[in-house]
Amino acid sequence: MSPRALMLRVCAIGALLAGTTGAFAVAGGWLSPAALTPARIVDRFEQVNGPHPGFRRNHAKGVCVVGEFAGNGAGIALSKAGVFAAGRVTPVEGRFALAGGQPYAADAATTVRSLALRFRLPDREEWRTGMNALPVFPVRTPEAFYEQLLAGKPDPATGKPDPERMKAFFAAHPESAKAATLIKARTITAGFADSTFRSLNAFRFVAADGHATPVRWALVPERPGVQETAAQAARTDKNYLFDDLIAQLQREPLRWHLVVTISRADDATTDPTLPWPADRENVDVGTLTLTGATPEEAGNCRDVNFDPLVLPDGIAPSDDPLLSARSAAYARSFTRRAGEATSPSAVAATADPGNAP
Ligand code: HEM
Repeated sequence: MSPRALMLRVCAIGALLAGTTGAFAVAGGWLSPAALTPARIVDRFEQVNGPHPGFRRNHAKGVCVVGEFAGNGAGIALSKAGVFAAGRVTPVEGRFALAGGQPYAADAATTVRSLALRFRLPDREEWRTGMNALPVFPVRTPEAFYEQLLAGKPDPATGKPDPERMKAFFAAHPESAKAATLIKARTITAGFADSTFRSLNAFRFVAADGHATPVRWALVPERPGVQETAAQAARTDKNYLFDDLIAQLQREPLRWHLVVTISRADDATTDPTLPWPADRENVDVGTLTLTGATPEEAGNCRDVNFDPLVLPDGIAPSDDPLLSARSAAYARSFTRRAGEATSPSAVAATADPGNAP
């Protein structure tokens, strides 16, 4: 090779390296320190909740569960995902949790309950979903999520968020003020077993002929919802919600129906603070049966990233910008916690049967 050709090749390699480094710098937000990056979102969780190495930065207190999902065939007209085929039984692992970044916080009725699931389809295909027991989500954008985290930080003097900060947040985000009213008015049931868990974000179900339908879904408990009693609310055992769930699962399987709500043309798919009208068509597409619970430990749900964009063929993301923000923030949270030494979960292996309702 001539010295000139060699020089050109070296320059080309240098330009390629500079371009790649630049692309990483842009993606990582190094060139725009004010941009909201996944790292800044996760930093803010740590700022608000303190360091809790090895734990999820949100929904930090949880327990793992196992079971299966049986499709009843009613979903197949909407989505070609095999999980909905009549009689198809798909193994599922999941995690019940309480929202917030405090892994040892005492259970409280008003803390948002969640259920995350991983459906293991044939050929290593997976469907992962994280749902909250809320009627709507409190914010519309990742930026609002980030602002709300700080506004909602408890004041050390009162243990509650500073009312002035919350007022300023709601003034800047009227959609969150409306959502907060709906969330406050929700019925709080006795526990995880009779809670309804919702996707809140919209997704698209894609049928075999390619037709896509915007949907939201909910897991509706077979157990009738019982409103939390004053006696329950007064319980002082720190893990009462988790202990009840574990004791219930030791007695019998727990079941939920997966109910898919079909949107109409003008329903918001980019704004989970808005409920869809109550007259939308609901389709029960199958039954989730959970059979057992185990504490978080190496290799089980502790080490799963319930990324809402891990979807099987037949389910696609909507245009909701929260979905990609969630996916990126969960990956960052997962990468951090996976590299840290972990303390044992607050939720113990066996529940005190005395706690059972
Ligand atoms: C921009 C908005 C959001 C951000 C930044 C965010 C952030 C996070 C983070 C960092 C985690 C911990 C992930 C891990 O380490 O594995 C998490 C968990 C979770 N999030 Fe979100 N989240 C958002 C919106 C939502 C929405 C709309 C839902 C809807 C239901 C939701 C439901 C959940 C659930 C269920 C978990 C717990 C999953 C588990 O048990 O592992 N999140 N979130």
